[in-house]
Amino acid sequence: MRIVDIITKKRDGGELSRAEIELFIRGYVAGEVPDYQAAAFCMAVFFRGMTPQETTHLTEAMAFSGDTLDLHDVAAFIVDKHSSGGVGDKTTLVVGPMVASLGVPVGKMSGRGLSFSGGTLDKLEAIPGYRVDLTIAQFKRQLREVGVVVAGQTHELAPADGKLYALRDVTGTVDSLPLIAGSIMSKKIAAGADAIVLDVKVGKGAFMETLPEAVELAELMAQIGRGLGRKMTALIGDMSQPLGLAAGNALEVAEAIETLHGRGPADFRQHCVDVAAEMLLIARVHVPGTSEVPGTFEAESAHTQAAATLDNGTAWAKFRQWIAAQGGDLAVVDDPGRLAHAPIIEPLLAPRDGYVAKVDAREVGFTVVDLGGGRAVKGDPVDPAVGVVLEERGKIGGKVAAGEPLLWVHARTDVACAAALARLAAAYAFSDAPVAAPPVIHRVIR
Ligand code: URA
Repeated sequence: MRIVDIITKKRDGGELSRAEIELFIRGYVAGEVPDYQAAAFCMAVFFRGMTPQETTHLTEAMAFSGDTLDLHDVAAFIVDKHSSGGVGDKTTLVVGPMVASLGVPVGKMSGRGLSFSGGTLDKLEAIPGYRVDLTIAQFKRQLREVGVVVAGQTHELAPADGKLYALRDVTGTVDSLPLIAGSIMSKKIAAGADAIVLDVKVGKGAFMETLPEAVELAELMAQIGRGLGRKMTALIGDMSQPLGLAAGNALEVAEAIETLHGRGPADFRQHCVDVAAEMLLIARVHVPGTSEVPGTFEAESAHTQAAATLDNGTAWAKFRQWIAAQGGDLAVVDDPGRLAHAPIIEPLLAPRDGYVAKVDAREVGFTVVDLGGGRAVKGDPVDPAVGVVLEERGKIGGKVAAGEPLLWVHARTDVACAAALARLAAAYAFSDAPVAAPPVIHRVIR
């Protein structure tokens, strides 16, 4: 069987067998299948889709394309979370220490920015000194000693995803349901999670734009996970507008730090509390001060306990411990004013009185990429300082008067700033009548 035959079969709408999918993935990881054939394969899948059976084969082939991690020598039960990607999504920076501070270990392999969506590793690297390249031994030691570790995917774990993820980013093949499901689930399976909380985003700033598509992705991933013996929960979170106010690496770190101090934007805080609560619930942990019996831990107390970690300083303390363990400069996180900042900061002014009816999150995400905060080409460096910070009134439902700032662009040059302001002006729509803000979470699938 030749690789070109597999590509052609998929291009013509055929259903690939397990053997065909394995051959392609093995060849790609071994360097025998070149990037141009892999790009053609991804494009064929993008247009033709995959059956749930093919997607399961793809996930397994990717998950077992390298080593798999067994973390049970560190903790009896490992919970992981994964976002399907969005704009302003700095959830891991907050949720990791929240959950770890309640005794549930969080060991995460995260990714980089993809298309218009930011990446957790790029955000963490905005903290000077933060190391994402850990060996498996270092990863485990930190998980044991600190309870939270977020590193890059090592070359040994799901290497097929590492290669395909970077390729898809620059070949227009990101927003494909089977490719997203395979990518997310293969890393989670390889990284040794017993339970996975999926944070599936829906809206213009997500890869799934409609609720039915997002639910389909969530259910497909849950089905794959359960088929491989994992406990699964999915939240469908809104991404019609950016999550929180900040989009851009250092700007998002600053917002995560605000949130860890019990402040921060209300929608982002609620999102973090909801995700953390699901992680606690799925771990069925006994949290001191709640039920005495593991397994009877209720949703309400999970939310209360999760929120308390933001208000009583325990999540912040855990965050500092985590960042220090990975080499991050604590002087910077203690004084976020020392994070990289852009030389030019200009407002986008409301063109009229009214209510904000739309802030196209995808356009905000691409603006951040254009400013230099994301990548146009595989391997490009990112500028940590640039991005966009919305005003509360600049979000959907906000009441604005003509001339008031809707947001602020943080740019490296005047030219980049002007282009960003023009693009963002077109991302807004206004209404004369009041507009309801979208729900933060549309649905929880347990
Ligand atoms: N997140 C991932 O890990 N992979 C995708 O393909 C999309 C979002």
